[in-house]
Amino acid sequence: MIRLSKVEKRYPGAASGELALRGVDLTIGEGELVAIVGTSGSGKTTLLNLIGGLDRDYAGKVEVAGHDLATLNDRRMANFRNRHVGFVFQHFSLLDHLTALENVALPAAFVRGPSPLAEDAAARASQTLTDMGLGHKLNEHPNTLSGGQKQRVAIARALLFRPKLLLCDEPTGSLDSKTGAQIIETFQALNREGYTVVIITHETRVSEAARRIVRIEDGVIVDDGQGGAA
Ligand SMILES: Nc1ncnc2c1ncn2[C@@H]1O[C@H](COP(=O)(O)OP(=O)(O)O)[C@@H](O)[C@H]1O
Ligand SMILES: [Mg+2]
Repeated sequence: MIRLSKVEKRYPGAASGELALRGVDLTIGEGELVAIVGTSGSGKTTLLNLIGGLDRDYAGKVEVAGHDLATLNDRRMANFRNRHVGFVFQHFSLLDHLTALENVALPAAFVRGPSPLAEDAAARASQTLTDMGLGHKLNEHPNTLSGGQKQRVAIARALLFRPKLLLCDEPTGSLDSKTGAQIIETFQALNREGYTVVIITHETRVSEAARRIVRIEDGVIVDDGQGGAA
């Protein structure tokens, strides 16, 4: 599903020897649940952005779902992200002037031209929110929802196009521990349904829920071992 080889990343403006990623080799198979851990600034978000096609400015090879991401033009990259990747972020990234339902269906508005992805988006959004226990909140705005509810809306949005891969950057970082645990259970359930799930986290409790823990330090993978739920 994911294969990185000899990946290097230098941000514009950084000194020539200053790399955010320094030769990363990483393979993640379909159906895995992987935690990526490491201290702040170690390169976790940089790595996730490359896997998700949010950043194409790198050296080495990044292959996801059969695509060599360096070869995709902007339009194909947008299409790749829509079809294959769902993103979940720490701060939910919901729009407050839209309802929960509108937030979840929003990605369909950015699909250009007639596409099966955009068809029935509202119906699928409604179904996914209902499946996640938010059927009574469809028409509520995010500022009336709890943190855990907001994150479930964000997860429902990530699932809108039924991607195979969920990329989550500190998804419990803004939640209390009980709510965070519920969100992690949601990811575990999605993983059992067949989603490949990659979760960046600072929290040991979260990483222990994964079957595999990849540790990154200073732009290098230093450990790639088994988690607590193996
Ligand atoms: N947009 C950016 N421009 C310049 N440097 C950046 C940018 N984003 C991250 N970096 C640098 O790259 C390194 C890795 O950052 P990041 O991937 O965000 O780490 P993490 O997510 O593990 O905290 C850090 O040294 C950070 O300062
Ligand atoms: Mg980060």
